[in-house]
Amino acid sequence: MTSSENRSHFSASCCGVTEEARAKINLALHVTGQRADGYHLLDMLVTFADCGDRLGFLPAQADAFTLSGPFGEALAGDGGNLVLRARDLLREQVGALAFPVHIHLQKNLPIASGIGGGSADAAATLRGLMRLWGMSLPAEALARLALTLGADVPMCFESRPLIARGIGERIEAVPDLPAFAMVLANPLKGVSTPEVFRRLAAKNNPALHLARSLSATGDWLTAIGSARNDLEPPARELVPEIAVISQMLQAHGALITRMSGSGATCFGIFSTMTAAQEAAAALHGERPDWYVQATETASGGM
Ligand code: C5P
Repeated sequence: MTSSENRSHFSASCCGVTEEARAKINLALHVTGQRADGYHLLDMLVTFADCGDRLGFLPAQADAFTLSGPFGEALAGDGGNLVLRARDLLREQVGALAFPVHIHLQKNLPIASGIGGGSADAAATLRGLMRLWGMSLPAEALARLALTLGADVPMCFESRPLIARGIGERIEAVPDLPAFAMVLANPLKGVSTPEVFRRLAAKNNPALHLARSLSATGDWLTAIGSARNDLEPPARELVPEIAVISQMLQAHGALITRMSGSGATCFGIFSTMTAAQEAAAALHGERPDWYVQATETASGGM
């Protein structure tokens, strides 16, 4: 698809709406237990990047779904993709009000990469279609519907800094989290989330104690630095490049590096956006085959 065709999907229209599906970054992810149904109990500090997928929604004669963007083709054969599931589930709640819609997804984020692309797309579909169809759902019904689509969908619906507990559905805003200058890097090897959880050796790890480290140091970077992603060791078994990405981000000046979600995307936090952009350019020069993106994350007070 050409860039002008691309633009036309998002051009201002009297009756269409657009939504951003921002990349989700797990600044910390602690696995604290496991439920009887196999799902893991997590403590997560989550923020959102200013890069992501884009979705457009237009009234149409019949339902349609089109894709563009660097990773659009990778989704083309996926009839069960989360955008369509979100549309269908929301329509069940709405009935006759839910007229046919042409949904366009510009897929800018790599697939199965630990930064919530699919979950953020599903959440953006719920937001966009509620606007297009001129309806809303009670908060509890909406939260239930989002969770049906995936454990990360409720937090992607919020799309602002938060702590999520349970399997991801117990959400608390973090209004004092600052924005961070960041580089995201992914070796373009998809990771299966269930497989990473299956390989996890210890399922009862210490909880996230941000309040304690924050009151001791008053410093978010130190608090984040002292936290972990418990999924990183099992993900490294599947994708050894994860260790290499961390080393490279550090060599280019990252203050903290860590994997997001179940991987393989890793982030580095930098002191300034200029430093992040320079590091991203250098990393891209060294590994042109990787996904590398400099980004500023949301602040809690946005
Ligand atoms: O909910 P979602 O479809 O995103 O989860 C994908 C898979 O990841 C689940 O089927 C489960 O194996 C694993 N998972 C888990 N505990 C969580 C979230 C996901 O074990 N809290």
